[in-house]
Amino acid sequence: MNKNYDVLVIGGGINGCSTAYQLAKRKKQVAVLEKTKVGAEASSAAAGMLGAQSEIKENSPFFDFAKSSRDMFPDLIPELEEKSGISVSFVQNGMLKIADTMAEKEHLEEMYRFQKKEGEQVEWLSSEQVEQIDPSIQGEHFGALYIRGDGQVKAPELTKAYARAAAVEGADFYEYTPVLQLIQKNGSAIGVETPGGSFYADQVILAGGAWSRMIPSLGEQFPELVPVKGECVSLRVSAPVLEKTVHASDFYIVPKPGGSVIIGATEREGEMGKEVSASAVQHLLSKGFSLVPKLQDASWETAWAGVRPQTLDGRPYLGQTHINGLWLAAGHYRNGILLSALTGKWMADLIEGKAADSEWLAAFSPQRNLSEKEEPIVGIND
Ligand code: FAD
Ligand code: GLY
Repeated sequence: MNKNYDVLVIGGGINGCSTAYQLAKRKKQVAVLEKTKVGAEASSAAAGMLGAQSEIKENSPFFDFAKSSRDMFPDLIPELEEKSGISVSFVQNGMLKIADTMAEKEHLEEMYRFQKKEGEQVEWLSSEQVEQIDPSIQGEHFGALYIRGDGQVKAPELTKAYARAAAVEGADFYEYTPVLQLIQKNGSAIGVETPGGSFYADQVILAGGAWSRMIPSLGEQFPELVPVKGECVSLRVSAPVLEKTVHASDFYIVPKPGGSVIIGATEREGEMGKEVSASAVQHLLSKGFSLVPKLQDASWETAWAGVRPQTLDGRPYLGQTHINGLWLAAGHYRNGILLSALTGKWMADLIEGKAADSEWLAAFSPQRNLSEKEEPIVGIND
């Protein structure tokens, strides 16, 4: 096999597929090379929250990028659903960010002030108001940040929808095609080697999630990625228990259209692998039951794990690497589903030389100065 393309995308996760979709729409000849199946890793483990206002702790170019990505979904989703024929169950059911400790209350009040100042749609609710809005929330709490328009999707379906829509636009997908090596000529990336042969292109985009750094000979300068494993459980309710997504300090409950309720997720830094520990199941169920006791009547559905790709400063790597022609779209950590819409567009703009926002160029450059792990600007507060 010896194939020539304009752009090769390594990795068929949500960010590789979104990037392929945007490039194929712009009439680029694109191939996605995936070591197993499209959406096999983190993108199918995600709870699907599109929470620009729920996990990013401070005002920054990253917050701005996340909001811009969130704002693309209302138009992008019907477009993808129509092209792919896949429903992604997009709902804007709102999110309650629950203060389950006094420390969390202080932290959320600070978030409320900064988001209000930025003109975001956000309200502060007392604990009585929380219980009025959702009487099934019964555990001890001290009020909540209410993000009325917050949305969510079924992440595995959204990943498949990007892939199918990209294929409809002309992208080629090669599953069970692991990239073993980058092919370089005079210091520039010109292709990749796979067990089935070589592929060549003008540009290569590495979107391998937590595995991006594992292709040999990328060099010392290639930026670090820290795997952070997350485990989730899913229950089934016969009648709706919660209407809104509930996000507490170290867990969340996401009610899905159709009767599943996801409780997530653990954070195991440095761990990879898909096994789910018994202690994670116990921890998540006990957290969920203590806040929403009615969930004890639900039936067991399933449990799973995925690996989040974390960067040293919490911001994704989106841009040109130190190897000419090799681009990186990885490191989306806890927000890769939310960020997928703009990641695809931004990567396509970069490849076409049209990416203009200088703050984003600097904030997400894989070549930015990163020495050691910083306090993350994204995350839970445990
Ligand atoms: P991945 O989905 O991991 O895809 C990378 C792909 O590259 C994989 O399919 C892999 O097989 C392939 N690959 C790697 N190396 C090679 C190679 N050498 N050759 C070929 N293919 C290769 N985000 C949200 O926005 N909202 C949420 O609610 C949310 N919940 C989450 C819950 C959990 C439990 C977890 C674990 C994550 C959650 N996330 C959430 C984060 C989100 O899932 C990730 O940020 C996102 O899926 C990363 O997507 P990706 O495409 O970069 O990587
Ligand atoms: N954003 C939810 C998670 O990563 O678990």
